[in-house]
Amino acid sequence: MSALATSRLVDAPSQSFEIKPFDAPLGAEIIGLDLSQPLNDDDFTRIHRAHLDHGLLVFRDQRITPQQQIDFSRRFGPLQIHVLKQFLLANHPEIFIISNVKENGQPIGLADAGKFWHSDLSYKEIPSLGSMLLAQELPEEGGDTLFASQQLAYETLPAELRQALEGKRAAHSYTARYADEVIAGVIRPTLTEAQLAEVKAVVHPVLRTHPETGRKGLFVNENFTTHILDIPEVESRQILAELFAHSARPEFIYRHQWQPHDMVFWDNRALIHLATGCPTHLRRRMHRTTIQGDVPF
Ligand code: SIN
Repeated sequence: MSALATSRLVDAPSQSFEIKPFDAPLGAEIIGLDLSQPLNDDDFTRIHRAHLDHGLLVFRDQRITPQQQIDFSRRFGPLQIHVLKQFLLANHPEIFIISNVKENGQPIGLADAGKFWHSDLSYKEIPSLGSMLLAQELPEEGGDTLFASQQLAYETLPAELRQALEGKRAAHSYTARYADEVIAGVIRPTLTEAQLAEVKAVVHPVLRTHPETGRKGLFVNENFTTHILDIPEVESRQILAELFAHSARPEFIYRHQWQPHDMVFWDNRALIHLATGCPTHLRRRMHRTTIQGDVPF
């Protein structure tokens, strides 16, 4: 369903704002828009169009409350609640905290989220349309996020490989890299039986069509994709290694260097992303909402 169909009708004065595409393969910044104020339907339509055209929008200087972030996110679709319930914001379970901060010796959020390239919630039967990540506290050094266009990745695949991948499906699992992450020193909470039941492996097409633009893209990622179905395991491993390397080529990437009060809204149907991390003694705290998309086809 298109976001326009799900959005509420809002009658409010138009805001004057600018959409400035980045000098990069994707992304644009939105300047002069205040998301703490109601957004009328014409302004919403402009934002929605820009999101489809650029794959990622950076809303500058958003001093908004958790509820305002949730309300704006909901205009694009229903919100998904992350399986790690211990890191949901109190009284606002739609917000997932990504942070290396500890309070009373306990992590307040998921540290080192996104150490491997991924599309949010690709391990769900209905993966995410997009995510909105709002900077709450930024380190003085590091903490950038990289985004890579999987539509450019698809369009530049060698023709023979692209043809061979038509109609192929791959399995995705939330726990695919859990053991590697723990070995690499990343803190990953042990999942309860109930949490494991929430994240059973799923199967998606390797190549997907964007439900709103019709543009085709690659839909595998090194964090969650475990294997391609119906081909020998060795071949699956070799093809996935090739696809993972191709999908993150520098010419597909936009690097986001966070500024205070940035909120970044990216399209998980078109991009993968990676958190580059920051020195462990520096604090980083982000609030993420995740909007439900469609079953990939
Ligand atoms: C994520 O993978 O959603 C987190 C990205 C980040 O913290 O920069």
